[in-house]
Amino acid sequence: MNFNTINETGAAPNEAETETAYKEKALSEFEFRIIRDYIHDYCGIFFEDAKIQTLAMRLSFRMAVLDIGSFLEYYNYLKFHHRGEAEMADLISRLTNNETYFFRETNQLSLLVSRLKEKKQAGSIAPFRILSCGCSSGEEAYTLAIMLDEAGVYDQCKIEITGMDIDQKILQKAESAEFTAYSLRSTDSERTERYFLKNGEKYLLDESIRNRVRFLHGNLVEHDIFEEIKDMDAILCRNVFIYFSDAAICRAVETFYNALARDGCLLLGHSESLSRITDMFIAERHKNAMFYVKREIRDV
Ligand SMILES: C[S@@+](CC[C@H](N)C(=O)[O-])C[C@H]1O[C@@H](n2cnc3c(N)ncnc32)[C@H](O)[C@@H]1O
Repeated sequence: MNFNTINETGAAPNEAETETAYKEKALSEFEFRIIRDYIHDYCGIFFEDAKIQTLAMRLSFRMAVLDIGSFLEYYNYLKFHHRGEAEMADLISRLTNNETYFFRETNQLSLLVSRLKEKKQAGSIAPFRILSCGCSSGEEAYTLAIMLDEAGVYDQCKIEITGMDIDQKILQKAESAEFTAYSLRSTDSERTERYFLKNGEKYLLDESIRNRVRFLHGNLVEHDIFEEIKDMDAILCRNVFIYFSDAAICRAVETFYNALARDGCLLLGHSESLSRITDMFIAERHKNAMFYVKREIRDV
């Protein structure tokens, strides 16, 4: 296939049709390794050897959309075509797992809310800054905004909550603040009624909460994006590192260290740990949850 004949938008005339019609191709070990390494360098997501079929399936779909016949051609397209970067964005959307829901792992969030409340009671007047990194469709960031609202932390206190994700499509969903019942499966009816407006099958989040969160497109393994993310009181990066290699986690965690304020904290998902990755953070364990605090540079 000559790249010049590829549809400039990268979108098939009918994606749904392609989805059912495309044939999954066999990915050789060589092709698998170079493409998996390219994806890994780009965003930290690492496909273990056992995931060769999964990757083949996802790549085959994009190749069918672009009418590209071989994996090597597709790899070259990603690397050298002027639409390569845009294609990477489409591919990433198919590679990431966007699973999330409101009030997920709330013990940890309650702990964070109490911590911010204490800081406020101790007289802190600086705005609190929180980053939900790998925010997906926004449920995590919005949950925190709801919990802070319920705890009265917004009174006389500015709180900036930013949701960041590499997947542009999912960020559009986050910005729309429109959810299905599936996203609300752990939200009690009282909260659903108070904070959402039901419209048919959809639930629209109340503006008062929507306006408290802004969304940013960014790749957490790229340092540039963190030039505007500084002095954070908390970074939530939950259920993201499970898809990363240790080397990529290490790189991301170093960036988080620099982006956090001196007494800032890092919240990972319950199955994620830094114990074999770095000693730049110390685990602070509480009854039902834990988070990481920065180790003083002089102690490292
Ligand atoms: C499983 S979701 C987690 C959502 C939410 N944090 C939670 O725990 O419910 C993982 C999210 O991480 C995002 N992600 C993966 N790699 C990323 C990267 N390099 N930079 C930013 N976001 C990334 C994915 O797009 C996806 O939306």
